[in-house]
Amino acid sequence: MDAIRFEDVSFSYGSGAFAIRNLNFSVREGEFVAVLGHNGSGKSTLARLCNGLLVADDGKISVFGKSVSEKDNLFEVRKEVGIVFQNPDNQTVASIVEDDIAFGAENIGVPREEIGERISFALKAVGMEGYRNALCARLSGGQKQRVAIAGVLAVRPKVMILDESTAMLDPRGRKEVVDVVTRLNREEGMTVVLITHFMEEALRADRAIVMNKGEIVMRGTPEDIFERHEELQTYNLTLPRIGYICRKLREGGLNVADTLDEEKLAEEIASCGSLRNI
Ligand SMILES: Nc1ncnc2c1ncn2[C@@H]1O[C@H](COP(=O)(O)OP(=O)(O)OP(=O)(O)O)[C@@H](O)[C@H]1O
Ligand SMILES: [Mg+2]
Repeated sequence: MDAIRFEDVSFSYGSGAFAIRNLNFSVREGEFVAVLGHNGSGKSTLARLCNGLLVADDGKISVFGKSVSEKDNLFEVRKEVGIVFQNPDNQTVASIVEDDIAFGAENIGVPREEIGERISFALKAVGMEGYRNALCARLSGGQKQRVAIAGVLAVRPKVMILDESTAMLDPRGRKEVVDVVTRLNREEGMTVVLITHFMEEALRADRAIVMNKGEIVMRGTPEDIFERHEELQTYNLTLPRIGYICRKLREGGLNVADTLDEEKLAEEIASCGSLRNI
């Protein structure tokens, strides 16, 4: 079953140019898809179309088979597709963590008796059990984003879209957030769409797409896409650091194959070294 399906979708903000142009795209239930693309390529527009925050000018968008353009489906669709945004500070709505997490669930009318349970579940899922009564303002960026994820989880969506949710975080915060969504996908079967500028993060996904000027210009596994580095550069995207390291090692005379797997690279370097010692 497709969790999200776009058929020939176009959208313009009204200024003439299309922010999304004739897009065909789907995400299967349980899949983890990374969306890459330079500034202004249409990634956030794509995210907002998925749950009806924006309405397509043309084409058809459905979530678990329900058309997003039908007003009667919107409430259901918004429960099923949760979005975590970029700025952790803009997403905090209450001063105490548990109130913040409860907000979305309260809004969709979850009974009071059930809210407490949902908060516990969500806090555990993001590894923040010890912070239930903490002040949001005291948390690190990574912790705030994990609370934002918990707030989305408390609504119990089937799909979570992260729209550059790691962009404002330090490397540690980024890892915390990506680890949480990877675990949610692998262990809880959550469908994940991870929009990111950080190519390394796309490596966690089953599949990746690259957007440029409102269109999908590359599709494949993250490894497939990263192998096409020259093409990536034409869309103003650069390789993950490990890709450059492989290339530099080759330039320096070590015969290592392109890989994005650190352990594999370490093994290759080790075997090159032992050959040299013979
Ligand atoms: N509210 C808006 N009004 C008018 N044009 C907009 C609006 N939001 C985005 N756009 C335009 O639509 C296009 C796609 O923007 P979008 O925000 O979807 O890209 P993005 O890939 O998310 O970019 P970024 O990496 O900067 O977040 C861009 O040309 C952008 O200038
Ligand atoms: Mg964006």
